[in-house]
Amino acid sequence: MKIYLPLDSFAVACGADLIAETLRGEAARRGIDLQIIRNGSRGMAWLEPLAELEIDGIRHGFGPLEPADVAGLFDEPGRHPKAIGPVEAHPFWAGQTRLTFARVGVIDPLSLQDYEAHGGLSGLRRALGMSREDCLEEVTQSGLRGRGGAGFPTGIKWQTVAKAVSDQKYIVCNADEGDSATFADRMLMEGDPFTLIEGMIIAGISTGATRGYIFTRSEYPIVIRVMEEAIRRAEAAGLLGEDILGSGHSFRLEQRVGAGAYVCGEETSLLNALEGKRGVVRAKPPLPALQGLFGRPTVINNVISLATVPVIFAKGAAHYRDFGIGRSRGTIPLQLAGNVKYGGLYETAFGLTLEQIINQIGGGTATGRAVKAVQAGGPLGAWFPTSLFHIPFGYEEFAGAGGLIGHAGLTVVDDGTDMLKMARFAFEFCAVESCGKCTPCRIGAVRGVEVIDRIGRGDAAAVPLLQSLCATMKSGSLCALGGFTPYPVLSALTHFPQDFSVKEQVDA
Ligand code: NAI
Ligand code: SF4
Repeated sequence: MKIYLPLDSFAVACGADLIAETLRGEAARRGIDLQIIRNGSRGMAWLEPLAELEIDGIRHGFGPLEPADVAGLFDEPGRHPKAIGPVEAHPFWAGQTRLTFARVGVIDPLSLQDYEAHGGLSGLRRALGMSREDCLEEVTQSGLRGRGGAGFPTGIKWQTVAKAVSDQKYIVCNADEGDSATFADRMLMEGDPFTLIEGMIIAGISTGATRGYIFTRSEYPIVIRVMEEAIRRAEAAGLLGEDILGSGHSFRLEQRVGAGAYVCGEETSLLNALEGKRGVVRAKPPLPALQGLFGRPTVINNVISLATVPVIFAKGAAHYRDFGIGRSRGTIPLQLAGNVKYGGLYETAFGLTLEQIINQIGGGTATGRAVKAVQAGGPLGAWFPTSLFHIPFGYEEFAGAGGLIGHAGLTVVDDGTDMLKMARFAFEFCAVESCGKCTPCRIGAVRGVEVIDRIGRGDAAAVPLLQSLCATMKSGSLCALGGFTPYPVLSALTHFPQDFSVKEQVDA
């Protein structure tokens, strides 16, 4: 008997380890030979722990499981009250275009054999047969942009590093996924770690970098464990080291764990932390592409950007570029969180509207009340009211509406939410997480909490002060933490003036 059960952090938080233990106990009691494969999550969070039982070669799902549900899996699984039928026919799964996440939830994350059987390494093998210029052209032509949030074209970043002359270049993966409502990096690394390794090797071949580092957030213990083991197995299989698959190319990879500061997700403070220094933001220029880790040319990309590279090489740039809208090409792993009925990860081509994403795919709120707003792009992202739900999901489209897509995390709130409290939280968050290097952020965030409290007490005269403070933070902060905190504040004020006891619409 073969059962798939996620090792994914969210599934484990919902009791997956206890389900595994109960499954083993039940199988032993019945004298059944049971094989449990700890896979990644399919991304249907409301069904976790979701076990999958292979029946006639088709994987049938059961969830959310509790220990008392386990015995029924051994009796008549077809009549099990938690049965959801064939997993890949479930509308949440079947509606997706899974390119980056194609193997997540499907394969055994630490089996290189399973990885290859599902298309893994075909991108790397193709890249090894190409010139550096052709590799760079492939990434550029795919239209891939930085999935960490800023959306900078990946091909241009790689070209800058490739052209730089240096005795040593680096590939750094930013896995310090700190935004609220984001978990795509975590899910990818837990569910398909070899994809990230393959993407980083291709980045090395394309730019001439021979060393790589993955900077993982300390709050992700399962990621850390899975990645360490995946790197060890990749080394043993000759994927990492002095002579990658006998090609003559060399690439060494190590994982480093952060110490829990949100600001270390900012690329220059991440580089400082990697160098063993305090995680404080560096002024740019110089760009990391020219003077990055230890002062050397460095590609620093988010997990999803790097993990998307293998599928681009495996299927070709045109295949990837054909998905999407405008300048937002390919697919994006949307992360639905907060007060939403069907939360989880949904990979799809750019271009769905917020209405489709939140109400159709997400099923509206978990509380059953009306959706009030959605925050896109983490704690520094703007709030979108339902009147803007016609906007398609894309970099320029969201920027045009005063927001950003960020790392594609979406936090839903219902009509019982006080947006003044949400604006206050943005300042509080900034005050706690500020690295302290520049005044608009270090002092501005603290003053912001005070000004919001004045407004909350009915002092409407404090509103222009709030707007002026936000303008100063936007233009005067050194990095996105201070510079983007005004987004959630001003969007809440603009779209929900009634929550600020301000009767008139306020210009952001
Ligand atoms: P940025 O716009 O300054 O830079 C984007 C990237 O392009 C950087 O890697 C930069 O070094 C590179 N770059 C710029 N010009 C270049 C050139 N000519 N050649 C080569 N490389 C070049 O944005 P930043 O400050 O790095 O990131 C801000 C974004 O981070 C925000 O949009 C926000 O959404 C996102 N963010 C993501 C978080 C997460 O948890 N994933 C957390 C907080 C913010
Ligand atoms: Fe540090 Fe804030 Fe300035 Fe960024 S904006 S450099 S986090 S003080």
